[in-house]
Amino acid sequence: MDKNFKLSKANLLDNFNKNIQFSLFDEISSTNDYLKEHFTSLSVPYVAIARRQTNGRGRLGRSFYSSKETGAYFSILLSTKDSIKNTLAITSLSSVIVCEEIRKHTNKNAKIKWVNDIYIDDKKVCGILTELISDKNNKPCAVVVGIGINLSSDFPDELKNIAANVGLLNPNSIIADISNRIVNEYDNISNIDFIPKYKEYSYILGKEIYFTENNKKIYSKAIDIDNDASLIVQTENGIKKLSSGEISVRLK
Ligand code: BTN
Repeated sequence: MDKNFKLSKANLLDNFNKNIQFSLFDEISSTNDYLKEHFTSLSVPYVAIARRQTNGRGRLGRSFYSSKETGAYFSILLSTKDSIKNTLAITSLSSVIVCEEIRKHTNKNAKIKWVNDIYIDDKKVCGILTELISDKNNKPCAVVVGIGINLSSDFPDELKNIAANVGLLNPNSIIADISNRIVNEYDNISNIDFIPKYKEYSYILGKEIYFTENNKKIYSKAIDIDNDASLIVQTENGIKKLSSGEISVRLK
């Protein structure tokens, strides 16, 4: 295989902005967990990258399939800001950047499934897990944005119908391009400039979706995204604003 299609420290170094420190691990439990455990001794911004994760994690306690060199698995450590009260805005800004970089690197029409998944042709190709690290007084003191992009279709059977891959590309340059942009654009996150793009790239606006409330499936239509990145839905009982949780697209 062309050496550009493999992760290498030298190739990453060529692509990363000089203000970002990073580590490349052959195998690690989870790049998010690594940053959460070591953040006090790392310079910020910092990026942890792995060829394989033994305990890759997704949202809502799910696992994220992370076998060797079938994906780009990396996490970015950022400082917190007073304006950051939860992970919604950072996840949304990151989704816009990841979506644009996947489009740029693949020429494929990547879209965002609120709030943290990137889809191509109705299948998930990437997930984002943002976590706040809090101090002993429960005050957020750092942020970790973890990104997993599927690069090949070497999935177990249970994922074959719902997951896809972005195709063969240079993982070094897409990881560095995404990280460089997230680090830069996070500085201006309170401007919410990314919200119009978040809407433009949406996979779900205008679609019939459902979410779960008190163990009940609520069917609704996704009608808008608010300036704080919440999803506005029309249910049969009126308009509702969703700020967390998960939605599913209702297949026709
Ligand atoms: C999801 O699909 O719910 C989010 C998946 C996030 C996966 C990435 S891979 C790098 C980082 N390390 C983890 O353990 N998870 C994130």
